Amino acid sequence: MSKEDLELNEFQSMPTMIRYENLLIILMAVFLGTTIATIVVPAWLPDFVRTVLGPDPKVFWFLSRGSAIAGYCLLWFSMVMGLLMTNKMARAWPGGPTAYDLHQFVSLLGLGVVLFHGLILIGDRYASFNLLTVLLPFANPKYKPTWVGLGQLSFYFWGIIVFSFYIRKRIGITVWRLVHISSFLAYLLGLIHGVMSGTDTSSLWATVLYWSSGGVLLFFSIYRLLSRLIPLYIK
Ligand code: HEM
Repeated sequence: MSKEDLELNEFQSMPTMIRYENLLIILMAVFLGTTIATIVVPAWLPDFVRTVLGPDPKVFWFLSRGSAIAGYCLLWFSMVMGLLMTNKMARAWPGGPTAYDLHQFVSLLGLGVVLFHGLILIGDRYASFNLLTVLLPFANPKYKPTWVGLGQLSFYFWGIIVFSFYIRKRIGITVWRLVHISSFLAYLLGLIHGVMSGTDTSSLWATVLYWSSGGVLLFFSIYRLLSRLIPLYIK
């Protein structure tokens, strides 16, 4: 059996915590919850609805900005867990299996949060997004189309990477690895998008967040690269 087959077997034998059916149930629950909320909230919280549907509602913009930062942090955290696993540092913290689960679930959660970040913009009047311009990269000329477009591309890259996990047996370990490596691109696009199109970029906390998170990821990536390359030269 070749090394590639052995590696594929190893991945195939890993427990798949979320299967297609579970994923479908989660998506249906999100859809159902959203539908019920749109019916129930106006009846229970009329004042809240007034602030949302008033003449100049800001709530959508705030929700989008909040979920943007949360989504960015989740994508970053998932990548850190992935790198800790491959660097074998996860043995020290938080443990291999925990890092594996966190890597898998946090990326899925982050994808959902970022989808919310994009879709909630439809409610904002100033940026004037609609479903098409949220989903189609570079399609909204009214709000920083280039920088927002990079975020939209990041979202699709990220989606493909997460989805590839569930079909890794079919696509094989080599293709899966190649797809997985593009997560660096997804992260970079998300980071540039956040810095260039965000309202909060100039505030101190955002500067600290972007520099420290980017720095940590760069450190683990260089460590990973060197720990692969150095043994090759020493041999
Ligand atoms: C459908 C895809 C996306 C759309 C339509 C979109 C749209 C936007 C818009 C219009 C802004 C400006 C909001 C503001 O002024 O603060 C923004 C900011 C931001 N986005 Fe996205 N985005 C998308 C995907 C992503 C992805 C994949 C990430 C992260 C990985 C991300 C992270 C951020 C961050 C961190 C900010 C800055 C928030 C702030 O400064 O408060 N976005 N996005």
